[in-house]
Amino acid sequence: MAERFSRIVGLGSYVPDRVVTNHDLGEWMDTSDEWIVERTGIHERRWVDEGARIGSSDLGVEAARRALDDAGLDVGDVDMIIFATLSPDHQFPGTGVFLQQKLGLGPRPVLDIRQQCTGFVYGLATADAYIRTGMAERVLLVGAEVHSTGLDRSTRGRDVTVLFGDGAGAAVVAATDDPARRLLSAHLYADGRFAKDLWLDGMCAARRPPLSVEDLEQGRLYPRMNGRKVFKHAVTRMPEVAREALAAHGCGVEDIDLLVCHQANLRINELVQQALGIPPEKVHNNIQRYGNTTAASIPLCLDEARREGKLHPGDLVLLVAFGAGFTWGAVLLRF
Ligand code: ACO
Repeated sequence: MAERFSRIVGLGSYVPDRVVTNHDLGEWMDTSDEWIVERTGIHERRWVDEGARIGSSDLGVEAARRALDDAGLDVGDVDMIIFATLSPDHQFPGTGVFLQQKLGLGPRPVLDIRQQCTGFVYGLATADAYIRTGMAERVLLVGAEVHSTGLDRSTRGRDVTVLFGDGAGAAVVAATDDPARRLLSAHLYADGRFAKDLWLDGMCAARRPPLSVEDLEQGRLYPRMNGRKVFKHAVTRMPEVAREALAAHGCGVEDIDLLVCHQANLRINELVQQALGIPPEKVHNNIQRYGNTTAASIPLCLDEARREGKLHPGDLVLLVAFGAGFTWGAVLLRF
C-alpha cells in the first residue's frame, strides 16, 4: 500500500475592512508612527468595527469558506476542524465549535489549539498526524484572531497594543499518496519556564474570584510582555528550528523556494532571514499592513504569497513560528 501523507489543497484568508494606522493609535496613547515603524515595521493593522460583536470564529468562517472554495470542496467534505487562536470567542467552549456551527457542519471532531503565535504550525502538525494515521481525510485548519477588543489602549499597554491586528487564515489539509507534494515534517517545541514573559494573568481559574476589581485596576485583563526577552529568544529559536527542519531532509537553505515566518516584528524576521542567509525574494512578510495576527499570520502570508505569484505547486516551503509559552516550531513542506 502506498504511504499516506498530507498536503495543503486549499488556502483562504480574511481581514476586517477597518484600517487602523499608527497615527490612529497615537490618539489613544503616547506613541508615534516613527517609533512603531522603526521598532516593528508595522504601518497599519486591521481591527474589527467598534462594538460589532465580531469574534475569531466570524473572521475564521470567512477564511474557511475561501479555503474550501480554493480546494474545490464543499463544507460537508471536511471531516475534522482544528481551530488555533489566542483570542477565543468565549472562555469555553472552544472557538472551533462556533466555527462549525457557522459553517453548518454536522457532528465531527473539533479541536482547539492554544499555542498562540505557533498555533498554525502546531495545527498543521496535528492535521498531518491525524491524516497519516488514517483518523482523518480532510482537515479544515483555521487560525483566527480578534485581538483589538482585548488590548489596553492607554499608554500603559502601548508596547503590546501597537503590535496586534485582527485577521484569519485557513488551510484545507488532505490525504495524498503523492510524495512530491506533501508536508515533509514538523518540529515543535515549548519551554514553560518563559510562560509569564508573554501572558494574560486575569480571568484566572486558579484563584477566586477569577477576575477582581484589583485585576481590572492593575490592567491584568490585558496581555503583558517582556518584549526584549521575547525578541532575544525569537531570533535564536527560529533559525535553530528552521535549520533542524532542513537538516532532517538533507536540504540546504539554497533549496528553499519560500520562507514564511510568523509575523511578530519585521526586525525579528529580517534577523532570522539574515541568520539563515535567505535572499529577500524568497521571503514573504506582510506585517507592515496587518500587524501581528498571531495564529492567522502564517496562512495570511501563504495565501497572499500565492496570489502574488510567489508560491507555486511543488515549491519547498519553510514555515517558522515563535510565540507565547514560549512555543516555537517549523514545518517543511512541498506545496
Ligand atoms: N510607543 C512609544 N514608545 C514606546 C512604545 C510605543 N508603542 N512601547 C514602548 N515604548 C517605550 C518604552 O516605554 C521605553 O521607554 P523608556 O526608554 O523611556 O523606558 C522605550 O520605548 C524602549 O522600550 P523597549 O521595550 O526597550 O523597546 P524595544 O526596542 O525592546 O522594542 C518591542 C519593543 C517592539 C515590543 C520589541 O521588544 C519586540 O518586538 N519584542 C518582541 C515582541 C514580540 O515578538 N511579541 C510576540 C508577541 S506574539 C505572541 O506570541 C502572542
